[in-house]
Amino acid sequence: MNDPIAVIGLGYVGTVVAASAAAKGTVVHGVDRREALVEALGRGVAPIPEPGLPERLARAQMQGTLRCTTDLAAAVRASRASLVCVGTPVGEDGQLVEDDVLEVCCEVAKHAEGPHTIVIRSTVPPGCYRRALAAIEGALGPGEVGARIGLALNPEFLREGNAIRDHEDPELVVYASEHDAAAAWLEGFYAEHAARAHRTDPSSAEVLKLVNNAWHALKVAFANEVARVTRPQGVDPFAVMELLCRDTKLNTSSAYLRPGLPFGGACLVKDVAALERHSAEHAVDAPLLGSILRSNEAHLDYLVAAVLAHAPKQVAIVGVGFKPGASDVRDSAPVRLVHRLLDAGVHVSVSDAAILDATVPPLGIDALRAALGDPRAHAAPDVAHAAAGADVIVVGHPSRADREALVALAPDVPILDAAGELSRKLSDEERAALAPVVVLSRG
Ligand SMILES: NC(=O)c1ccc[n+]([C@@H]2O[C@H](COP(=O)([O-])OP(=O)(O)OC[C@H]3O[C@@H](n4cnc5c(N)ncnc54)[C@H](O)[C@@H]3O)[C@@H](O)[C@H]2O)c1
Repeated sequence: MNDPIAVIGLGYVGTVVAASAAAKGTVVHGVDRREALVEALGRGVAPIPEPGLPERLARAQMQGTLRCTTDLAAAVRASRASLVCVGTPVGEDGQLVEDDVLEVCCEVAKHAEGPHTIVIRSTVPPGCYRRALAAIEGALGPGEVGARIGLALNPEFLREGNAIRDHEDPELVVYASEHDAAAAWLEGFYAEHAARAHRTDPSSAEVLKLVNNAWHALKVAFANEVARVTRPQGVDPFAVMELLCRDTKLNTSSAYLRPGLPFGGACLVKDVAALERHSAEHAVDAPLLGSILRSNEAHLDYLVAAVLAHAPKQVAIVGVGFKPGASDVRDSAPVRLVHRLLDAGVHVSVSDAAILDATVPPLGIDALRAALGDPRAHAAPDVAHAAAGADVIVVGHPSRADREALVALAPDVPILDAAGELSRKLSDEERAALAPVVVLSRG
């Protein structure tokens, strides 16, 4: 049997969360300031048309486990934890309004008797966890937060129309807290979903929820642009998207979803440009497709700025293929980075074992010179020569040989790991032997 909980805010999320827990036998004190809603839920009436909700409310009523009220203080006093599910509408500045979340967190903290975990389940703007902590500390005074009162974030990922199923059989449960007691309480609460529960830091939990929804929105907008772009040819967009989704290795998978260097290579840039051109020719408004290459450029600008922030006179770049282990440099981001640094007046020295080992002419150092395509760039025969005299070393897409050579060299200048390719493969011992490795895509 779980601890009694308060669920504060009985809108879409709160009603589902409260009904589901109460139906499973947890005593739930549901709180909302809307009296009519509280009264309806108290009678077991589902306020939203959600499959499975009436049955759960009926079971909860039969068991007497769902008690709804407008009295937040009484509900909190009777509970071991409070799940905050109040609304966070969009404000005039476009940001989510967190006022109700902060107010409820403070009210809960003030009325809680004994140890109490406050779990923010609402979708909140970045930084809300820290602001909520500060507000609670302000309300309680020092010493209580973290000791008696714990604060956690636990974003809800349910979809309306499928809310009960999503909530009760989640693909992913994410929670975050700076307070171990609060995290432990949530681990107990989600014991049946332990295999799918992930603890992260509060800032990541806040942003993950927004990024998740941006991803879903992007998918919808993309599919709709495909429909508009394919229409002039009389193509069936449903068939195209269905076929796209059939490739679960490259398309509907985690492939291409890791931050790193801008994309390049023989195909992506030119084919995105071709689709963009096709849209323009047919006067199709496709701002998403039209912004993909611009976004790629923005990422290169970001990396260039991150390297230049070290004010280097000389930079070594290791691994200039368009992707890890590739000797192909067509539209390669590391090569474009070389050119941008040269244009900024920086001396650049490059090594790339995959290109130096080329088996078709030009061979060896000539192959690397040809790949760099700029006489100002120094093609080095190996990592040690490239690194000599460099103020920083930028790791692009290194081959295994380059990675190993760099680790063996253990240079005493900062290593800027543009795509995280080096960092990801370092053992703890290797990492300890190197000067700081800064993963640029990590900010
Ligand atoms: N609706 C969804 O599908 C969904 C899914 C996941 C996450 N979320 C997020 O969850 C949060 C809640 O969403 P929702 O759709 O349930 O919102 P909602 O607007 O339907 O419900 C919010 C409820 O909170 C109550 N409330 C507000 N302040 C209160 C206070 N001080 N005391 C007591 N009650 C108070 C309101 O009266 C209302 O009933 C939002 O942050 C939302 O972004 C929503």
